[in-house]
Amino acid sequence: MAIFMTGATGYIGSYATAWLLRNTDHELALLVRAAGYDAGVERLWKSLQLHMEADEFHRHLDRICFISGDLTEPGLGISTADYDWLISNAESVLHNAAALNFRSERACTNHNLRGTLSVIRLARAIQEDHPLRRFTQVSTAGVAGMRPGALVMEDEPLDWSQPDFNPYTRTKKFSEHMVRELLPDVPCLVVRPSSVIGDSRFAETTQFDMVRAFCALADLPVMPLSADLRIDIVNADWVGAGVGELHVREDLTRDTYHLSAGTESRTLGEIAEAFSSTLGRRAPRFVGRFAAPFERAMDALSNFPKAGNLQRVGALLSVYLPYLATDTVYDNTHAVAELHAAPTPFTSYGAALYTYARSVNFEFPYKPLPESLDLSNVPPSPLRPMA
Ligand SMILES: NC(=O)c1ccc[n+]([C@@H]2O[C@H](COP(=O)([O-])OP(=O)(O)OC[C@H]3O[C@@H](n4cnc5c(N)ncnc54)[C@H](OP(=O)(O)O)[C@@H]3O)[C@@H](O)[C@H]2O)c1
Repeated sequence: MAIFMTGATGYIGSYATAWLLRNTDHELALLVRAAGYDAGVERLWKSLQLHMEADEFHRHLDRICFISGDLTEPGLGISTADYDWLISNAESVLHNAAALNFRSERACTNHNLRGTLSVIRLARAIQEDHPLRRFTQVSTAGVAGMRPGALVMEDEPLDWSQPDFNPYTRTKKFSEHMVRELLPDVPCLVVRPSSVIGDSRFAETTQFDMVRAFCALADLPVMPLSADLRIDIVNADWVGAGVGELHVREDLTRDTYHLSAGTESRTLGEIAEAFSSTLGRRAPRFVGRFAAPFERAMDALSNFPKAGNLQRVGALLSVYLPYLATDTVYDNTHAVAELHAAPTPFTSYGAALYTYARSVNFEFPYKPLPESLDLSNVPPSPLRPMA
């Protein structure tokens, strides 16, 4: 029996997959947007090379099967044979894939709403065949909505009266709702990461969107935000391991966890101070009263008809500023207790991430799989490989 997982090739998915491969003996059936076995291997290697060398990756391949598909296609675009195989052989579902295109109603509706509904339909078919051990929905702490100054608790129910940050958080919120409403007879788990930025153990990253926004802000001599704003940033190594571990644990006491920094979130002033002392430069001056005009200026730039550097910076910051400016943190007491480990404060590794991101010009130097690794030599597996 296998864990059916979506989004293994993404940033958080790569951490959860690496954790599951190293810490469990579960087999993994991964939904990938790739046709054919070799293309699946190539796609997964692209994301897992942040975590392991090619020979370790090669050793894990006999526990992985690639299911070619796409969240936006009817029936997830999975072949009938693969769909039937999943119905008989999936022991749980870990739904992590999503579109993080914050501003696009269309992308978020198609990938997050229609996609999650299709994953739920598959889970229902599995449940009719045999009891699913668990359906885990990777959501986002942002489903709490815009709650200036709030400490959002893990066991608070979804509050439909709160304004949403953007189409992304709105569709993630409704996805959580669908999972709970449509799978009442399945043990469901919702994990909600906050802003996942970088790894506390090494500077390399494959995801640069929020890093880019941070770098742009870190370079400003005058910060048009208040130094007292708390920012809930959490390290990907803790989040990814948490997603993997919570999905397989038999003894969970709750059905919702915040994978967040919580009350240990640092303020913008503390983050700026850490950057300045590590990078050996002057701390910026904070002018909180400029926040609203700055946000309006970034919005205007983002809508500038001609794409260019300024338009790109505007688009980036207009998306992230609302997250930074709301001063909301997400309590993680239950998650920390369950995982027996706490996240690492961004102040201790953020500056190294800044230096790395600038050094590679916000692009991870991907390596192809070495030709010496012969895929025809992958040991036989009880899992069906993708046709
Ligand atoms: N990053 C954060 O700060 C953060 C914070 C809170 C919650 N989350 C949640 O964490 C999860 C993972 O996010 P991430 O940051 O790792 O995102 P990511 O790096 O963009 O990865 C997204 C994953 O979803 C897959 N995917 C997207 N559209 C798909 C489709 N139509 N069909 C099949 N697969 C599709 C991608 O496949 P391809 O490789 O083919 O593109 C990729 O594997 C998401 O549910 C997100 O909402 C993230």
